[in-house]
Amino acid sequence: MKRIFSGVQPTGNLHLGNYLGAIRNWVRLQDEFGDCLFCVVDLHAITVWQDPDALRANTRETAAAMIAAGVDADKNIIFNQSQVSAHAELAWIFNCVARLGWLERMTQFKEKAGKDKERASVGLYAYPNLMAADILAYKGTHVPVGEDQKQHLELARDIATKFNHDYGVDLFPIVEPLIFGAATRVMSLKDGGAKMSKSDPSDNSRINMTDDADAIARKIKKARTDPDALPSEPAGLAGRSEAANLVGIYAALNDSDAQAVLAEYGGQGFGAFKPALADLAVERLSPIQGEMKRLMDDAAQLDAVLRIGAEKARDLAAPVIAEVQDVVGFLRP
Ligand code: TYM
Repeated sequence: MKRIFSGVQPTGNLHLGNYLGAIRNWVRLQDEFGDCLFCVVDLHAITVWQDPDALRANTRETAAAMIAAGVDADKNIIFNQSQVSAHAELAWIFNCVARLGWLERMTQFKEKAGKDKERASVGLYAYPNLMAADILAYKGTHVPVGEDQKQHLELARDIATKFNHDYGVDLFPIVEPLIFGAATRVMSLKDGGAKMSKSDPSDNSRINMTDDADAIARKIKKARTDPDALPSEPAGLAGRSEAANLVGIYAALNDSDAQAVLAEYGGQGFGAFKPALADLAVERLSPIQGEMKRLMDDAAQLDAVLRIGAEKARDLAAPVIAEVQDVVGFLRP
């Protein structure tokens, strides 16, 4: 059986990278796969400090973004992680399966903890174990994400393999990452060497899913580029990370590829390309924004979607957790 699981942290500043790298791909996969689970991962969010009121608002906003982007809440399961205790339960068991040495290698922890890793939360360190639990509590098989989550999914594969091996069972599937599209790693608009991220202190580094047309145009206009014209072939983008990023964003928004974008814009400077990119981004994002606003105005309705999603998720996870408890040797009622 194939089952999709994916998640987004409700840490605010949802951006174009989250949309192009993940959420948009979910919309495309939902018809191909049966019951997909799309989770607002609030337990992950608190691995770094979250103001409680902001967390509540961001949880609703993240769910609204998924629905507004086209994830069908009736056909799929949209919920917030903390409503389903199976995630935390299985994560504890995985804390006892994963090895310290595996977590030591996680580049995201190193980036997020920075120089002062002694002061990072234990949760931030164990973060990938919870992520494995998210997926495997439902025996998820396919995980559509951006490029930056690849290493975490390799860890999920290692955990599943070790659990199955240690207990002599074939309980957990080995998850497959689904990383596709022209924008699997959207870079910062200010620095072609850094990923576009929710936590970048500069708002100009990213296009937020809630930015209006003026903000989008202004940020793209200000985006760092080089003085050369666009090349006519993708090979000509080598060593030009900022140019490559803008071409990749255009291609993803336009559902094409770098080759097609350069066939149209090769030889032209950024003075011509940037306004075209801004227009395209506004055209694609504004309907989503309108729908997000509408959904955000009805918090009770969003809460109901999350509650119903959580009920369905609990029903799917319960037999898996029972199976795990039996295998591990826990007595249960
Ligand atoms: P998060 O909240 O950082 O990002 C959500 C999704 O957006 C993708 N993404 C990007 N894609 C392209 N370019 C970018 N600059 C960019 N930035 C983010 C991410 O790859 C992700 O797919 N750990 C996860 C959430 C999570 C999860 C899971 C995902 C928790 N449990 C289980 C899959 C399965 C995270 O922090 O995503």
